[in-house]
Amino acid sequence: MTSRYHRLDRFLSNRLQISRSNLRLLLAAGRVQVNGEVERDRQRRVGPFDVVVCDGEILQANRPRYLMLNKPASVVSATRDAHHPAVLDLLPAAQRQGLHLPGRLDFNSTGLLLLTNDGDWSRQLSEPENQVRKHYRVTVEQPLTDEYVAAFAEGMWFEYEGIMTRPAELKIRSTFEADVWLCEGRYHQIKRMFGRFDNNVLTLHRLAIGNLMLDETLKPGEWRELSALEVSSIFS
Ligand code: URA
Repeated sequence: MTSRYHRLDRFLSNRLQISRSNLRLLLAAGRVQVNGEVERDRQRRVGPFDVVVCDGEILQANRPRYLMLNKPASVVSATRDAHHPAVLDLLPAAQRQGLHLPGRLDFNSTGLLLLTNDGDWSRQLSEPENQVRKHYRVTVEQPLTDEYVAAFAEGMWFEYEGIMTRPAELKIRSTFEADVWLCEGRYHQIKRMFGRFDNNVLTLHRLAIGNLMLDETLKPGEWRELSALEVSSIFS
């Protein structure tokens, strides 16, 4: 992801399509405000959530948005898809602007998905040093044994990517049901890990990301905004 911060002069010249010399005059005349303060420094960095006003006209006033959604099965984790309903289609059109998914679930997986327009927050969620664990509930076709617990904890070699998976925790809940915690998200990771035991995953539901648990009052396909506390405490 590229930096979403731009120099004020670049930002203004993109928006206003004016020459460099006019831009300097505009700034020198104190006609530009950033977050309510007159700004004359053309090198000032402007982020996606800074409010920029010129001559009283709002050029940018995005507010950061953070949503959780209970993903139903048979929906693609994408902003749009040519063949199937996409997650963003579950939101009213007026709510979709600028949102992306910081992580995905497979087509038939269900549960907690996040949506945001804040690229920095998304990046932090996926940074390995932040160790944001994801909690899944899985049902499988064949009985589970303690061998699974050890193999998940040890990590598995993924030939295609040429990597060892990071230690994962598996807790057996009953013969065919387990909880799994991962701190990474490789392609079809859980299915491939159970696949090592020739065991098919029948259902896969994400219950939590970091400290953020799926709101149990959300029915499949429903969503809500996160509180400020939820946004920050997801990492702690
Ligand atoms: N692992 C999978 O195999 N699928 C998911 O949707 C999430 C994790």
